[in-house]
Amino acid sequence: MTAETLGWGIVGLGRIAGTQIAPAIGELPGHELAAVASRDQGRAEAFAKQHGAAAAYDSYPALLADPAVGAVYIATPNSLHAEQVIAAAAAGKHVLCDKPLATSLAAGEEAAAACAAAGTQLGLMFQTRRHQGMAEIHQALASGQLGQVVAVQLEMSGGRTLLSGWRTDPSLAGIGTVNNIAVHAYDLLRFLLDAEVTEVTAMLGTEAGLQLDTIALALLRFGTGTLAYVNANQSVPKPYDDLVIYGTQGRITGRNVTRPDRDGWIRFETGDSAQELQVSSAGAYRRTIADFGAAVAAGQPPSPSGTDGLRSIEVSQAVAESARSRRTIVLA
Ligand SMILES: NC(=O)c1ccc[n+]([C@@H]2O[C@H](COP(=O)([O-])OP(=O)(O)OC[C@H]3O[C@@H](n4cnc5c(N)ncnc54)[C@H](OP(=O)(O)O)[C@@H]3O)[C@@H](O)[C@H]2O)c1
Repeated sequence: MTAETLGWGIVGLGRIAGTQIAPAIGELPGHELAAVASRDQGRAEAFAKQHGAAAAYDSYPALLADPAVGAVYIATPNSLHAEQVIAAAAAGKHVLCDKPLATSLAAGEEAAAACAAAGTQLGLMFQTRRHQGMAEIHQALASGQLGQVVAVQLEMSGGRTLLSGWRTDPSLAGIGTVNNIAVHAYDLLRFLLDAEVTEVTAMLGTEAGLQLDTIALALLRFGTGTLAYVNANQSVPKPYDDLVIYGTQGRITGRNVTRPDRDGWIRFETGDSAQELQVSSAGAYRRTIADFGAAVAAGQPPSPSGTDGLRSIEVSQAVAESARSRRTIVLA
């Protein structure tokens, strides 16, 4: 490892770590997989062998004690994230935490405060921001090409993929589809609109045999006045995963753009002109990791940051609270 190389430790050797994150770290120059931790030594060793990690541990504290680990990526069940962020900060490690940062705002605030106190960087894996085409949409909105953005409509779904394993357990998952999928949509809209959510009205639905939500329909009002409708679900097949942004001077329409590893298109229509981009959402995890590494090297907060993680929890909790109380929730 050279001084410029960021050594990664991964905890939570499940699907996302194995299919996306470890391969992305392996592909990136200046990044290497230094160590992995599982609850099971055999699993840690098998994962380390498959992905070229130098060390395999059967405990997270052992991984945190490894000096080759400069940054930790956390991909355990949701309710474990905050305490693992706090432990990483105490060990002087930077953290890229997968979403959600925590299953309560108080725990998320403690985690963010621990990183701030330790002087370590905290980033969130909200990779949807880095789908191809999102930067162009952000730029088009920021430049005023669409006039005032009146409304947004967004679908985000991986198809009918009902909850299983720890995702059915409220004590590990917190909320269901809201934490699994919708958090990406809420973060994406905050990013695209450069605005915060000020009001939430939501309904959640679930299916027989499950306690947690499998569909989350939310209406959001942003500080800029933009209204958004988000349909995040794990209930129905054949999603379009589309995005429509309605401005006073035009609209942007995207198809197959809100989920990872898809090929889609984005059409910009303003005045008499129309432009269509063919886009892919592949590579977004890798770009998020690369940008996190650059931020760490520069001593700057990454984007998405711990603060984005906290804002996201506020919106998710407001969605759950609105559905529970059948009221509109006003955010500070
Ligand atoms: N950004 C994204 O697009 C994205 C996509 C998918 C998932 N995620 C997030 O990543 C995290 C992991 O999701 P995943 O789909 O990879 O889950 P997963 O396949 O179930 O993996 C989670 C891993 O956590 C470890 N673990 C520790 N304590 C556990 C417990 N009590 N029960 C179950 N597993 C436990 C397990 O590894 P060991 O057995 O080796 O200890 C397990 O393999 C979640 O927070 C999820 O929200 C993000």
